[in-house]
Amino acid sequence: MNLKDCNNFSDFRKLAKKKLPSPIFHYIDGGADDESTLRRNTDSFNDCDLVPNILASVGKPDLSTTLFGRKIDMPIFLSPAAMQRLYHPDGDQASARAAEKFNTFYSMSSMGNNTIEEVSNISSGPKLFQLYVHKDRSISDDLIDRSRRSGFDAMCLTVDTLVAGNREKDHRTGFTTPPKLTLQSLMSFAMRPKWVFNYLTGKKFELSNVKKKTDKGTNIAKSVIEYINEQYDPAMGWKDAEYCAKKWNGPFALKGVMSVEDAKKAIDIGCTAIMISNHGGRQLDGSRAPFDQLAEIVDAVGDKLDVICEGGIHRGTHMLKALSLGAKACSGGRLYLYALAAGGQSGVERAIEKYKTELVRDMKLMGCTKISDLNRNNLRFR
Ligand SMILES: Cc1cc2nc3c(=O)[nH]c(=O)nc-3n(C[C@H](O)[C@H](O)[C@H](O)COP(=O)(O)O)c2cc1C
Repeated sequence: MNLKDCNNFSDFRKLAKKKLPSPIFHYIDGGADDESTLRRNTDSFNDCDLVPNILASVGKPDLSTTLFGRKIDMPIFLSPAAMQRLYHPDGDQASARAAEKFNTFYSMSSMGNNTIEEVSNISSGPKLFQLYVHKDRSISDDLIDRSRRSGFDAMCLTVDTLVAGNREKDHRTGFTTPPKLTLQSLMSFAMRPKWVFNYLTGKKFELSNVKKKTDKGTNIAKSVIEYINEQYDPAMGWKDAEYCAKKWNGPFALKGVMSVEDAKKAIDIGCTAIMISNHGGRQLDGSRAPFDQLAEIVDAVGDKLDVICEGGIHRGTHMLKALSLGAKACSGGRLYLYALAAGGQSGVERAIEKYKTELVRDMKLMGCTKISDLNRNNLRFR
């Protein structure tokens, strides 16, 4: 199987599984506890049917929209994901370049393996920085200052990761960062010599954006889970979020909002957007799926800030359903991370191209010429 054989989410996933040592693949693939939220995130879309309009003279649909103050060419973008160099040697640079090519947002995680400055030097495309509030507040302050200096367009603060979720696959596979050869994982690494070669001969593995502020950025003795539990501040509250929004002083989202009440508070602290998200089912298992929760939140706050639906999206039709319910845009992690593992920048480009083609085709089939044509008349829930 090669990149050219990948035509959809599940093809990219299959190829990623083939190319990555099993601890790394399962780190991307897995969810928390019994993975019920992970499954529901996608299943929720299947409980909803699309109702197309016919003979609508659609011509060439326009997928563009404005998000975080920037016009983008399609209403889907790349969610932040940590440690992308584990998935492909070009890591964040590959994702950022691919997103730029399609004029949509790339997001950089606080836990990236490239620096804010490196990515800003190679991409002038739309860029979102994802912040984690560290116990040492000078780390978060530094990330905000550097993102602004480097011309990032927007910032999101992730609020669903006060402690790491219980990802049992990581315990079973022996996932550690940097990867360590254990008996358990030895076979899996041995069978992927190209990955091992790239890893050993490439740039040193580190959390590039925090390495100057904490030696945990270069010396992660055990696992990323341990980093989260040691470094992030579980005492973070609304005042901290407000402080970050004010310090950033630009387009700002909370990532991980799930309730109407919290969505309203987000407006009060100065957010311009929220990302309805359960971290791709990686944190609180049993939490509601973003698509299930979308209408309630859009109805309450959709006229005051941009609502982004993220998680579980595998198809253009999933995006159409979220947009029809009132999401301003959608985003996803695994939808490009498998592709990154499968083929670096070319892989991510191929994935985005596939989603874009699907969206254009589906818009035509729905009888819609622009995103704002999509509305709830197009949907029926079973
Ligand atoms: C491998 C991996 C790493 C991630 N790292 C981060 C991160 O550093 N910061 C963050 O806010 N979210 C992170 N996420 C969550 C994504 O931003 C996003 O919420 C999630 O992937 C959405 O679900 P989906 O993968 O089904 O699209 C990560 C997700 C994955 C799969």
